[in-house]
Amino acid sequence: MIIILNNKSNLSKKEFMEYQEELKKIETDKKLVLCPTYLNINLFNIENIELGSQNISAYSDGAYTGEVSGKSLKESNVTYTIIGHSERRKYQKETNKELNEKIKKAFENNLIPILCIGETKEEREANRVKEIIKKDVIEAIQDIPSENLERIIIAYEPIWSIGTGIIPTNEQIEEVNNMIKEILPNNTIVYGGSANEENIEVLNKCSSIEGYLLGGLSLNPDKLQKFVDKIKM
Ligand code: PGA
Repeated sequence: MIIILNNKSNLSKKEFMEYQEELKKIETDKKLVLCPTYLNINLFNIENIELGSQNISAYSDGAYTGEVSGKSLKESNVTYTIIGHSERRKYQKETNKELNEKIKKAFENNLIPILCIGETKEEREANRVKEIIKKDVIEAIQDIPSENLERIIIAYEPIWSIGTGIIPTNEQIEEVNNMIKEILPNNTIVYGGSANEENIEVLNKCSSIEGYLLGGLSLNPDKLQKFVDKIKM
């Protein structure tokens, strides 16, 4: 069971230092991965939590203004990297082709990619979930050598669920996780989108969920403690 904490674009330096002190107090036997902002990565200092980034450059070091390379992330003790979060697909117009390059860069630098996929509300209503999920997975994993394929963590995050307080039914999650398993039978699949200390009791019953990607909840260590305490597995 892996719990990935996505701070998104939150927590200034001062806020992050205070937050870290609270996060240090979390008690759990689950694997926690914290993905702070780029600026907070080098301030990270918690022994029993691993470090992730929210993004990775599709390029190596060089003339790519504003980018942070996999090499730099690795040197800052990053182990995991989120790739293709729906907010980056939306606001930075990231394409599956670019995400494929990012996955390759992650592996070149010995980082574990967490690939985010998920449909919009409109796509679900138009019965296009399978088409979208398959396309996003297949295009993102193009030419990734088989020995690396199984190491990719897939985060199923329905876009209509992120930050909205609405979660899919367990049947809907199970259905998508099965679609992913048709392509990647051995990969870890985590769920993301409004997961919290209240709905975890429902999500617990979904046997194909092997971890969580938490946005809002990552910013509240008290609620996070309640969440991890209630996780069954
Ligand atoms: P949320 O975000 O938990 O706030 O819905 C999840 C995510 O965007 O990864």
